[in-house]
Amino acid sequence: MVNNISVEKAATSKIHNVDFDNLSFGNTFTDHMLVCDYENGAWNSPKIVPYGPIALEPSSKIFHYGQSIFEGMKAYKDEADGVWLFRPLENWKRLNKSAKRLAIPELPESHFMDGLTSLLRLEKDWIPKNPGSSLYVRPFMFASGTGFHASPADKYKFIIALAPSGAYFSGKVKVKIEETYSRAANGGVGYAKAGGNYAGQFYPTQLAVEEGYHQVIWTDDNNHEFIEEAGAMNVFVRINDTLITAPTNDRILDGITRKSILDIAQAEGIPAEVRKISVKEVVEAAKNGSLQEMFGAGTAAVVSPIAAFGYKGVDYELPEIQNSYASQLKKRITDIQYNRAEDSFGWRFKV
Ligand code: COI
Repeated sequence: MVNNISVEKAATSKIHNVDFDNLSFGNTFTDHMLVCDYENGAWNSPKIVPYGPIALEPSSKIFHYGQSIFEGMKAYKDEADGVWLFRPLENWKRLNKSAKRLAIPELPESHFMDGLTSLLRLEKDWIPKNPGSSLYVRPFMFASGTGFHASPADKYKFIIALAPSGAYFSGKVKVKIEETYSRAANGGVGYAKAGGNYAGQFYPTQLAVEEGYHQVIWTDDNNHEFIEEAGAMNVFVRINDTLITAPTNDRILDGITRKSILDIAQAEGIPAEVRKISVKEVVEAAKNGSLQEMFGAGTAAVVSPIAAFGYKGVDYELPEIQNSYASQLKKRITDIQYNRAEDSFGWRFKV
């Protein structure tokens, strides 16, 4: 328990300027944010302050050496205005896994959980109730300490900012299986939610967009033989009735949606395998008609069905499936998140 989270209230609220019926993803920010500083070898108590610019010196190491990590979560409001999070401790654990890899000091559980719940209680009116909308929660941490020496900083900031948001993707997505660029490599930082992992995706994704695709399917850095992730999400493939996703490793993010889907599949009797999926297997399945579905899975989009994929200049369409695994799993997980169904897994967290 962190004592005395101080609150400096915003002079006026922006909430009345927001059109909650037409929210895009991650472009509108609430009145307050949580800020917590690391200095002299310890994390200070978090503070809630008005959302706004932060002062950093040009020599802050975030700008030079990229010590920057983040998490993505959502807060949901149910019919009775109850506020819920989904498996928030998993985000705290992963934040610290990322922190360790980037030589950033780990954050105590109480700073994360008490800061998060205090901020959400203050900002609960910003949680949209419209179907498909939620309050996207962005905890992040970076090196605010200064110096051009290429070594870890001595000061860091942990911030939580909130963005009432609509859907991440609308409609089905066309993806390109990547044959040249890699998102991550063995021994690297692919499993961490490091800002640079996303920066490195932008250029290959721009090239794919120029070719008419929306996103890239990342393949292994060795021979681009195996399917690993879809854009900023984990990826699932359904061949006949079996759902398959790649095992987590150095290169693949341990997605909370990914592991929740695997648990739901097991509970509901959907055959699921965690194993390497070769590009060859997916292309052959598309050719012989056994490829039923592909979808991305992540916090922002939840489950994002893939309509078609391109490989070596050939496009392969996926069939339109009634009662797809993607739609069943999305319904099951969002029913738990929005407190519309029993949560036999114990994932829902009351704020
Ligand atoms: C997520 O879905 O959890 C993400 O990390 C997406 C984010 C890059 C917007």
